[in-house]
Amino acid sequence: MPISKKMQDGINQQIVNELFSSNAYLAIAGYMDSQGLKVLAAHYLEQSAEERTHAMKLLHYLLDVGASLSIGAIPEPQNKFKSVEEAVKSALDQEEIVTTQINDLMGLAHTQKDYATVSFLQWFVDEQVEEISTASELLQLVRLAGSERILLVEDRLMKTGTAPLATKEP
Ligand SMILES: [Fe+2]
Ligand SMILES: [Fe+2]
Repeated sequence: MPISKKMQDGINQQIVNELFSSNAYLAIAGYMDSQGLKVLAAHYLEQSAEERTHAMKLLHYLLDVGASLSIGAIPEPQNKFKSVEEAVKSALDQEEIVTTQINDLMGLAHTQKDYATVSFLQWFVDEQVEEISTASELLQLVRLAGSERILLVEDRLMKTGTAPLATKEP
């Protein structure tokens, strides 16, 4: 096997982490919808679908290198939120956790001189820069608007295309 057992375990764990993120976004989407915020709900549904593709990328890599796949239990995400701001903040927190997880995996790949995995993981490193940027911009916008004017956030998302249209299926 071209990757170590430790790397295999790490990637298997990251599949679970990405699926957890996917579910966390579903929970946020559900909360947004319950608040009547359809554009934000669509945005988080889209994020959820994206996280699943991250899990699939990792899965295919394991299979490509002939490592074995082992899907662990996915913990329950946060389902209750006190405010839109709290929900949006939880998304940023989750992306920061994932960034640390990806960096740890990258660190392991470097330590093991596993340059194929280094190359593979680089995409995730770059993706996290985007993810953190999107999540923190949205949090900034939500704070700027305040709960009274949260609909302005939806308008902005519609206009700038940083979120899909409310009717779009992920
Ligand atoms: Fe991800
Ligand atoms: Fe993400």
